[in-house]
Amino acid sequence: MKIVTLTLNPALDKSTEVERMAPESKLRCSALRYDAGGGGINVSKGVARLGGQSVAVFPAGGMNGQRLRSLLDQAGIETDVLETQEETRESYAVRETSTNHQFRFTPPGAPLTDDEAERCLARVGQLKPDWLVASGSLPPGLPETYYERVAAFAKQIGAKLILDTSGPALQAAADEGLYLLKPNLAELSALAGVNKLEMNQVDDAAMDIIAKGMCEVVVVSLGPRGALLVTRNGFEHIPAPTVEKRTTVGAGDSMVAGMVWALSQRKPLREMAQWGVACGTAATMGAGTELFQRADAERLLQWIQQYGERYRFLDF
Ligand SMILES: Nc1ncnc2c1ncn2[C@@H]1O[C@H](COP(=O)(O)OP(=O)(O)OP(=O)(O)O)[C@@H](O)[C@H]1O
Ligand SMILES: [Mg+2]
Repeated sequence: MKIVTLTLNPALDKSTEVERMAPESKLRCSALRYDAGGGGINVSKGVARLGGQSVAVFPAGGMNGQRLRSLLDQAGIETDVLETQEETRESYAVRETSTNHQFRFTPPGAPLTDDEAERCLARVGQLKPDWLVASGSLPPGLPETYYERVAAFAKQIGAKLILDTSGPALQAAADEGLYLLKPNLAELSALAGVNKLEMNQVDDAAMDIIAKGMCEVVVVSLGPRGALLVTRNGFEHIPAPTVEKRTTVGAGDSMVAGMVWALSQRKPLREMAQWGVACGTAATMGAGTELFQRADAERLLQWIQQYGERYRFLDF
């Protein structure tokens, strides 16, 4: 089954490390590292980590755009790129090694026109995906509601849409309806129209979203607490193993990668969510910009499945 990812606001991620951040003085840092970044692109990288295939669709321009493409080419990830006039943005991350603090600078992104976004969608259509993952923020220039259009387009081409975004972009797409949402607690609270949901309200809030026809499946990600899988038929908590957390950068994207890969392998929903938690948690074990190691994810999956076996009440 074919996976396509859509990243409307990609970035060339640059990262480095310093021992200690300090104002004024010259900070000696390690050589810059370049990574291809942006929600959907990260998901494509995660899918590749699991031995799967996907096509990453995104707009790219200028030198940064070229570098982004060649990084993905080198990693053996198939791309379908829309050339744009505007230079692709670059983001910076500095890890302070003495504290393990991450300082992340994220510029807004290259503006994209409606016409360019439509051309990206047309490419997606030509690829005939079974699974479409749209992830990340929207670039300046597009209406905040653009993912609503993406959701409508996915229906039109018969692709199941998995969306991972936040704020008005998420709300608009949910109003149109799609297959799977992966909100974190803050995003789910916003969708439910409340300030902050308590843990015991999460299942009801997710069920409510499904009842309103916004999506068929919700996987609420709960950070170190794992995730809650919710469908029309019920819900199940997938615990996250306790690991020595080094960074949470890329946890959400890794989780989505694990989920869409499992779906493309026709795994049942429970196992899909388990793969999501395994890959998300595996991503927290590395210090660098790598998403996760497959061996870590496989080991965590085993733990989740053995542990989950003892707490299984519902069948999906
Ligand atoms: N501290 C942690 N310990 C173990 N697992 C974690 C931790 N933080 C995140 N995870 C794993 O990663 C998954 C996704 O994390 P989280 O709920 O923080 O998503 P998110 O808020 O969307 O993250 P992102 O900032 O990447 O968008 C979790 O469901 C869990 O499996
Ligand atoms: Mg997230």
